Amino acid sequence: MNMRLPLIDRFWPSVVYRLTGRIPWDRLPGADFGPDGRFRIVSVIGSGGSGRVFRAVDSHDNTTIALKMVRGDARRGTLNQNRVCREANIFGRLSHENIAVARSMGWDVVLGRILVIYTESEFIPGYDLEQLLRSSRGSLDLSLVARIALQVCCALEYVHAEGVIHRDLKPTNIMIRVDPNDGSQVVKIIDFGIARHLEQHSGLTRPGEWVGSPGYSAPEQLRGESIDERADVFSFGAVLYELITGRHAFDGSSAREINRAVRASRMRPIRDVRAGVPPQVEQLVEKMLDPDREKRPSLEEVRSCLQTSLLRP
Ligand SMILES: Nc1ncnc2c1ncn2[C@@H]1O[C@H](COP(=O)(O)OP(=O)(O)O)[C@@H](O)[C@H]1O
Ligand SMILES: [Mg+2]
Repeated sequence: MNMRLPLIDRFWPSVVYRLTGRIPWDRLPGADFGPDGRFRIVSVIGSGGSGRVFRAVDSHDNTTIALKMVRGDARRGTLNQNRVCREANIFGRLSHENIAVARSMGWDVVLGRILVIYTESEFIPGYDLEQLLRSSRGSLDLSLVARIALQVCCALEYVHAEGVIHRDLKPTNIMIRVDPNDGSQVVKIIDFGIARHLEQHSGLTRPGEWVGSPGYSAPEQLRGESIDERADVFSFGAVLYELITGRHAFDGSSAREINRAVRASRMRPIRDVRAGVPPQVEQLVEKMLDPDREKRPSLEEVRSCLQTSLLRP
């Protein structure tokens, strides 16, 4: 990475990093990064537990890209590295209209001596569903909900046919791409950070440990059991509940409490929160959120119910 900065400015961030263990990510915009410094970092667009997502420009073809970075470690085979490699490996093989396009992965040294690993993907102009939910406060038009959900459904059907489970479907991992030229909108699933192939056990989680997100992960995922496509159907149900009602399906003041609500299937019936939702759709979402995965509908059933109940008058 090249930075045109005075010497002191170049080195104090790595001193701060040494002392606090925190990467001063906000110092990166303006820097050149990656192979031959080909990526010009523009701004931070997202932050997660382990790193940051930046908007950047690839100087080779002048395209705007998204760079997701996490801290690396000089020792090989650490958890972060393995997760990024796996993400790039799974994400890079997927090709679908409703899934962001992965471009490359690699590593570089930033701010003097901090090793970071990155995945590069297409930049999606638009917003994620969390932002949409915040601005709509539970009043999304049901036909819009159906159009979004049908595209999520298509993406998931494709992903599952490829033998992959996303494992972390939630509003921040679903984006709406708004075409800068004609304003047309398309759903794009992002963040395959904890996705995995169906048949393989990753070895990145210990038995009994779980990865996922409170309020969206299925009960079997919370128990650290082996999971299949039906865990994604559960998470999809939680997203659908939220799109329809504007409220979380499962509430609680801590992750532990939310997980308890998930396990006990404690949620407010949709009709108590929003009137005018067709009963078939209400039943569909409740079935998607059933703690017993045997009772959850297939994605085909989800698709046909959404089409017949919400799109056809
Ligand atoms: N390709 C992209 N284009 C535009 N925004 C993105 C892109 N990827 C991620 N983001 C934004 O950054 C946020 C975090 O990215 P994500 O890949 O979900 O990382 P994390 O593992 O930190 O959750 C997303 O919720 C989204 O708002
Ligand atoms: Mg995410």
